[in-house]
Amino acid sequence: MDVTMDVSVKLSALQVMQDAPVIPVIVLNDVKQAVLLARALVAGGIRMLEVTLRTPQALACIEAIARDVPEAVVGAGTVRSAADAQAVAMAGARFAVSPGYTRTLGQACRDAGLSLLPGVATGSEIMMAQEDGLTELKFFPAMQAGGPTMLKAWSGPFLDVKFCPTGGVSMANAAEFLALPNVVCVGGSWLTPADAVASGDWARVTALARQACGLAHLPA
Ligand code: 3PG
Repeated sequence: MDVTMDVSVKLSALQVMQDAPVIPVIVLNDVKQAVLLARALVAGGIRMLEVTLRTPQALACIEAIARDVPEAVVGAGTVRSAADAQAVAMAGARFAVSPGYTRTLGQACRDAGLSLLPGVATGSEIMMAQEDGLTELKFFPAMQAGGPTMLKAWSGPFLDVKFCPTGGVSMANAAEFLALPNVVCVGGSWLTPADAVASGDWARVTALARQACGLAHLPA
């Protein structure tokens, strides 16, 4: 069995990032959609799924995917507090993504056995995360905070850090990010358009996932 699919194994943030060129950022309003959406993404080749804590149903959706879609690895996004980290771990999430970084959150994720991809947008934030042993980071919000040129500037002083740019990334600019040596994957919501999820257009989601999997993805 592929070790990443063994729920007793703690995944590293790098393993989460290396699995596919894109980590989908998912917003779910209905538990009934969770399993079908997860299966649609897996059918298109995307296994690492970030379900954001932005709706009241998010935890139940994480739980449903963890229980019913063993071919997927479900993670939680918008994890901002120790309580969030504990709740998503209890629900079955195997990794956490956050829009920023605090030491409290880092500790809570370690305690809960979750790998963490924390959001950074400045050199000081990168240095604080590095001090705590985190070297795989989400660059957020990527386009608004400087885009590919910011990552090029960071590749000098932070040559040992790998990034997942997220925020304003789409098929139109993903390849430019993925061509950078300090980018392992990108994150984005474009694989799961709200209208496709609402109408249950799973074939469209699968097609978007398959297209994203065709992006060149350099292993770190
Ligand atoms: C988010 O947290 O909302 C992500 O950055 C997704 O951004 P996107 O919708 O621009 O892909």
